[in-house]
Amino acid sequence: MADRYLSFTGTAPGRFLTRRLGLPQPAALRRWSPERPSLDGTLLRLVAGKPDPDLAAGLADVLTRTGPHPSGAQTGTAVDASDAPSGQPPAAVVLDATGVRDVDALGDVHAALHPVVRSVAASGRVVVLGAPLDAADHHQAAAQQALEGFTRSLGKEIGRGRTVNLVRLTDASAAESTLRFLLSPKSAYVSGQVIHVGADAATSPEDRDRPLAGRTALVTGAARGIGEAVAETLARDGAHVVVLDVPAAEKGARALAERLGGTALTLDITAADAGGRIAAALPGGLDVLIHNAGVTRDRRLVNMPAERWSPVMEVNLASVLRTTDALLASGTLRPGGRIVATASIAGLAGNAGQTNYGASKAGVVGLVRSLAPRALEEHGVTVNAVAPGFIETRMTAAIPLFIREAGRRMNSLAQGGLPVDVAETTAWLAHPASGAVNGQVVRVCGQSLLGA
Ligand SMILES: NC(=O)c1ccc[n+]([C@@H]2O[C@H](COP(=O)([O-])OP(=O)(O)OC[C@H]3O[C@@H](n4cnc5c(N)ncnc54)[C@H](O)[C@@H]3O)[C@@H](O)[C@H]2O)c1
Repeated sequence: MADRYLSFTGTAPGRFLTRRLGLPQPAALRRWSPERPSLDGTLLRLVAGKPDPDLAAGLADVLTRTGPHPSGAQTGTAVDASDAPSGQPPAAVVLDATGVRDVDALGDVHAALHPVVRSVAASGRVVVLGAPLDAADHHQAAAQQALEGFTRSLGKEIGRGRTVNLVRLTDASAAESTLRFLLSPKSAYVSGQVIHVGADAATSPEDRDRPLAGRTALVTGAARGIGEAVAETLARDGAHVVVLDVPAAEKGARALAERLGGTALTLDITAADAGGRIAAALPGGLDVLIHNAGVTRDRRLVNMPAERWSPVMEVNLASVLRTTDALLASGTLRPGGRIVATASIAGLAGNAGQTNYGASKAGVVGLVRSLAPRALEEHGVTVNAVAPGFIETRMTAAIPLFIREAGRRMNSLAQGGLPVDVAETTAWLAHPASGAVNGQVVRVCGQSLLGA
């Protein structure tokens, strides 16, 4: 169902009318395309506090490779606001606040961003870099935690399709794939997030345009909706994609697999032997496992019979646990592998009529947080989750008009996301260079007000 309000506010009379009436002003988001793969404009690097010199040097290095610098555009680097390149508005601002250790240094955050934030281009990015919280230093912990409130508040007020995210890191090169994602049009619907990046050595793919070349990715529930977009995006990145869906969706699964040069695999993921059948279908092994299949059976708890509870729990959670266990135990998931599960903001915030769905998606978050460190240590596999908010799919098109309209607008970007937004986030987590991103639950929700 197209967002007609967004199209209307893109016209001059629509802009005039909605402004006069004080209605939301969603900006058309700039998304990735092969013709325009980068944000247009300069990258401005700012500093608050006293960052570690090695980290700062590594960061400068990484940003010259990752920042928005399409052909012809300059990459501006300023270590404080007064050095900001004049003329072209910055497409992105990166504030290194890793050296903020006390409340005084927080003043630098204000001093650095206050003069420049207005000039950030539409659909631009603000990325704040923080350090892990120091359990032995409550002044540092307070100042670093303050960055989260700052980031989320700025995200809510910045407008014009611009996003604000916080990355906690200790090693700039390990965070390269994350910064590359956040500083690109691929992260259009990701805002208000706090992402922790570890210190594992990053492996750069041989082919930057096809980082998954030579790898096999399996996407469950891929015949349509978000799963289809994930399959397309992983195929664009070079993966051989196995399109898994229920036998009833065989036609769609086959057509997609053919289009992507992949393979279709039809089975019900809730079958007890699903993991074994996947392993048997992939004798060469698997590199990327995307748990996307999901169902809803909404009813308030008082009206919910067990028949509406169990299928949701089976598809969304139990089968995710079973197949993950089976594919790790059989060694089908190779070292360097990636698991990305699909949670939901309903699992973080709760949602009336969705006790079953909310429970299953919160379960996914528990699975990710517990398994991630062990899977990395024992199998060399990372485990993360995406938590979509309101995404324009058949699932959300079925919501009654007024509730749908409210769901769409109740986020900082005042619009629903597209399946490709979840797909791009998944592709970043599946990237060979994202080995230091583990145990994260990243919301793709335009900074939804729900559960924020
Ligand atoms: N659309 C949204 O706004 C939204 C928001 C939050 C989370 N999500 C989650 O994202 C995922 C995809 O959502 P969508 O909107 O694309 O849904 P969708 O209903 O359009 O697609 C789901 C796919 O999963 C398949 N599937 C269902 N049960 C299966 C089973 N037992 N075995 C194999 N395949 C099965 C379906 O056949 C379908 O192709 C789901 O996990 C959903 O809960 C969606």
